[in-house]
Amino acid sequence: MSSTALAAAASPTQTTPMDVTLHPGLAGIVLSTTRLSRVDGHRGELVLAGHAVEDIAPRVSFEEMTHLLWTGRLPDGARLEALHRALAARRSLPDATVQLLREAAVRRVTPMDALAMATASLHGAHEPSRAETMVDDLEILGAPFDDTSLHLLATMPLIVGAYVRLRSGLEPVTPHRSLGQAGQLLYALQGEVPTEARTRALDTYMNTVIDHGANASTFTARVIVSTGSDLISAVVGALGALKGPLHGGAPGPALQMVFEIGQADRAEPYLRAKLARGERLMGFGHRVYRVRDPRATVLESAARQLFEAGDDRSLYDLARHVENVAIRLLAEHKPERQLRTNVEFYTALLLHGIGLETELFTPLFALSRTAGWLAHTDEQCREGRLIRPRLHYTGPEPTH
Ligand code: ACO
Repeated sequence: MSSTALAAAASPTQTTPMDVTLHPGLAGIVLSTTRLSRVDGHRGELVLAGHAVEDIAPRVSFEEMTHLLWTGRLPDGARLEALHRALAARRSLPDATVQLLREAAVRRVTPMDALAMATASLHGAHEPSRAETMVDDLEILGAPFDDTSLHLLATMPLIVGAYVRLRSGLEPVTPHRSLGQAGQLLYALQGEVPTEARTRALDTYMNTVIDHGANASTFTARVIVSTGSDLISAVVGALGALKGPLHGGAPGPALQMVFEIGQADRAEPYLRAKLARGERLMGFGHRVYRVRDPRATVLESAARQLFEAGDDRSLYDLARHVENVAIRLLAEHKPERQLRTNVEFYTALLLHGIGLETELFTPLFALSRTAGWLAHTDEQCREGRLIRPRLHYTGPEPTH
């Protein structure tokens, strides 16, 4: 466990209680137990509710994955149908939210900021419906499925789709009757029913990043509900935490690097020059993983399938080559570190292959992680304990 003895940080004039130990960034602190995900950085393993990420992410839909995370088991046919119906019944944006998005589009705020603003506007906008099917479906599904969490899952993809269209001078589309979460998101963005291959690729991406231990946004959501606050506030707070470049990351620069390299024989001189200038290779290295991030493996395979389903897999082949050269050069550059491919490298390639703009990469991460946040808020509420760490005061003492 990494910790810093307080005595080293305190000024010599301070009275320092000997039992106080600082944990900068809360590194190494185990907050609680969870049944949701386990991250093993040394073995390169990510377990999601009892399933290895590489086994589960490519074979189920995002709805099934959400059900697994929320309840601990995959849904049977009846429960999956109930979940589809429950989401479909809640897929509409309040007029006030659409109006807010129109104004945000005039101000050209980023899609991530528009998502946070519009999600906050859902407060009080959705009264639990008395419609019979909705009530029945909630009864079939049981806790933690409730009106607010389903409403968040159903409407947040519509918010992103509506905003992107409004900013391009297009009107939001009416949700499609029969598409699942991933297909619905692509439909809301692009206004046409996506191909099976693109929908599968997006389902796999969303499943892969649905949860990842006590990351900063998940921790934020847990802190917010631990005070007794509500789910919409927890999701809005988590969006704020995810937006930061140290967390939501920037898969954009990783893709940019591959584009700038352009052809295989330019990879080595380009990457060597970057390292010689002291720059970091985007999409490589991780605070936790010391081997290849298992999510990179899942997304690489999904990207290969997607590019093969299209006519041209040259960008995928170039990315693979860039990855191999980068790993070799990083081993020369930092032999004492184990710098390997992280999730961002193939996120960028996959989302680009699906036809999504770079500025949508972080909002898409957020839409996927929302299901994880809501699972954690449920766990936190069951624990029922306020999260409240301490700070050690190092300011001046009062003069009397
Ligand atoms: N390229 C070149 N050098 C690197 C890289 C990289 N990608 N990553 C780490 N290093 C070097 C650092 O320069 C540093 O060298 P120094 O000791 O001479 O200063 C050393 O390795 C250790 O770096 P730290 O930042 O302390 O390592 P940490 O494990 O904390 O960093 C991080 C993790 C921030 C992801 C880092 O590897 C990095 O900046 N990678 C590139 C950006 C990136 O891909 N971000 C997405 C991460 S995945 C996610 O957020 C979901």
